[in-house]
Amino acid sequence: MSQQPPGSPAPQDSSTLSALPTLRVAVLGAGTVGGEVLRLLAQQDAELAHRIGARLEVSGVAVRDLGRDRGEHVPASLLTEDAAALVRSADLVIEVMGGIEPARTLLLDAMEHGASVVTANKALLAQDGVSLYEAADAHGVDLYFEAAVAGAIPLVRPVRESLAGDRIQRVLGIVNGTTNYILDAMTRTGASFEDALANAQQLGYAEADPTADVEGHDAAAKASILASLAFHSRMRLADVHCEGISQVSAQDIAAAERMGRTIKLLSIVERVEEENGERISARVYPALIPDHHPLASVSEAYNAVFIEADAAGSLMFYGQGAGGSPTASAVLGDVVSAARARVHGGYGPRESRYAELESIPLEELRSAFYVSLTVEDRPGVLAEIAGTFSGYGISISTIHQELLEQDEQSGEQARAHIGVSTHRALESAMTASLDVFSSTATVLSIDSVLRIEGE
Ligand code: NAP
Ligand code: HSE
Repeated sequence: MSQQPPGSPAPQDSSTLSALPTLRVAVLGAGTVGGEVLRLLAQQDAELAHRIGARLEVSGVAVRDLGRDRGEHVPASLLTEDAAALVRSADLVIEVMGGIEPARTLLLDAMEHGASVVTANKALLAQDGVSLYEAADAHGVDLYFEAAVAGAIPLVRPVRESLAGDRIQRVLGIVNGTTNYILDAMTRTGASFEDALANAQQLGYAEADPTADVEGHDAAAKASILASLAFHSRMRLADVHCEGISQVSAQDIAAAERMGRTIKLLSIVERVEEENGERISARVYPALIPDHHPLASVSEAYNAVFIEADAAGSLMFYGQGAGGSPTASAVLGDVVSAARARVHGGYGPRESRYAELESIPLEELRSAFYVSLTVEDRPGVLAEIAGTFSGYGISISTIHQELLEQDEQSGEQARAHIGVSTHRALESAMTASLDVFSSTATVLSIDSVLRIEGE
C-alpha cells in the first residue's frame, strides 16, 4: 500500500480518486469464479475505491495455462505462472484456484509476507483451516472466506459475527448447488443423472472434479466449516458423516413423489444435549422431506439454510449457491472488508474454538428412515421384515408393497418391492437390521435407505 497512512479519512469525491492510496491485489485463478471476480473488480473500480478508501490494483493473475484467451477483463499482460512471486508482493490475495496444493503453501506464504487473504476454497479450509487461522494470527493479517459456503448467500458472516452473541443450536439446509440442480432436474423433468450433471458442469456450478459434489464431500467441507464456527469448536472433516447422491435412483424419486416428499441433499450441524453435557453432530446425506417444507421448493443451483438460535429463533437464508457471478459477489464483499481493515486499521473476526465440544458418532443419533427392499413374494415375508425391525426397537409407520413383473415361463421366483417408512430410531439399530436383511434369503436386495427429515 502507498501514499496514505492507516487511519486517515478516505476522500469521498470522485475527483479525488487518484489521490487515494493503492492496494496491490494478487488473484490466484481465472476460471469460473476468478474470471467474474476480475470482471467485477474492473467494472466497479471507482465505487470500490470509494467504499474502501483505497484503489485496488490487480498486480497479477496466476493461472496454469498462459496461452488461453480469457476475455477482456483478464488482460494477458497480467497473467503469470509464477504464483509464488505474485503473492509475496501483494497487500491482498484472492485465492480462487481451488485444491489443496499449491493453494495452501501460497496462502501461508502470502500471510507470512503480510498479505490478507480472501479464499473461496472450502476443501482447503475444511482440511487445513487450522494452519491458515494460525498463520493469520501469527502475522496479524485477515482471513476471509464467505464464498466458501453457499455461494452468494451471506452465511459465514451471520454465523461468525451477527450471531456471535447468541447460542446456535442447529444449521440445516442445502449447501451444494450442483447436487440440488441434479436432484431438481431428475425430479421435475425426469432428466438422467448423467445429463443433469453435465449441465451443472457447463453452467460452472460443479467442482473441478465433480465427484466432490456428487459424493457429498463439498457439502461435508461446508458443514465442517459451519459447525466449527457455530459451535466454537473444531469440527474435523473426518468427523462429518458424508453420503452423496450417486445412489439416488429414478425409483427413489418416484417413491418420494408417491409419498408427497422430495429428495434433497441436506447438511445438518447441531448440538446434541445429553445427560452429562453436550456434543455436536455434522452430517450430509440425501433425505426425504415433505413437499410442503420450504426446502422442498429450492430449485436448480439455489441453496437455502435454516439457522436456529436460542435468542434469534429461526432464520432462513436463500439464494444462488454456486456459479461464477454469485460466488464473485461473496468474494468481493470479503475483499472490501479486508481492504478497509488495511486502510483504516483493525482486524476482521478471528477463529474461536474455546468450547471444544466433541463430535457424536452417527450411530448414536436417531432418525426416521425409508427403506426400499426387493423381496420374495411369499407368505410370511412382511412379518419377517417387521419382526427384524421390531427386534431392534424400530417402529414402522407405513409400508407400501408392489408386485414386480414376472416372466412366468422362466419359472423365476415371484418378487415384490417393499417400501418401509419408520419412526425415529437409533442409527445403530437400523444398521443392525440392514445387516440381517443382507444375509436373509427372502430379501433379494436392499435398494435404498434414505433418512426422513423435516416432519
Ligand atoms: P475453475 O473454473 O476450475 O478455475 C480454477 C482456476 O485456477 C483456473 O484459472 C486455473 O488455471 C487456476 N489454477 C488451478 N490450479 C492452478 C495452479 N496450480 N497454478 C495456477 N493456477 C491454477 O474453478 P472455479 O469453479 O472457479 O473454483 C475456484 C474455487 O472457488 C474453488 O476452490 C471452488 O471450490 C470455489 N468455489 C467455486 C464455486 C463455483 O460455483 N464454481 C462456488 C464457490 C466456491 P487455468 O485456467 O489455466 O486452468
Ligand atoms: N460446487 C459447488 C456447488 C460450488 O455446487 O455448490 C459452490 O460452492
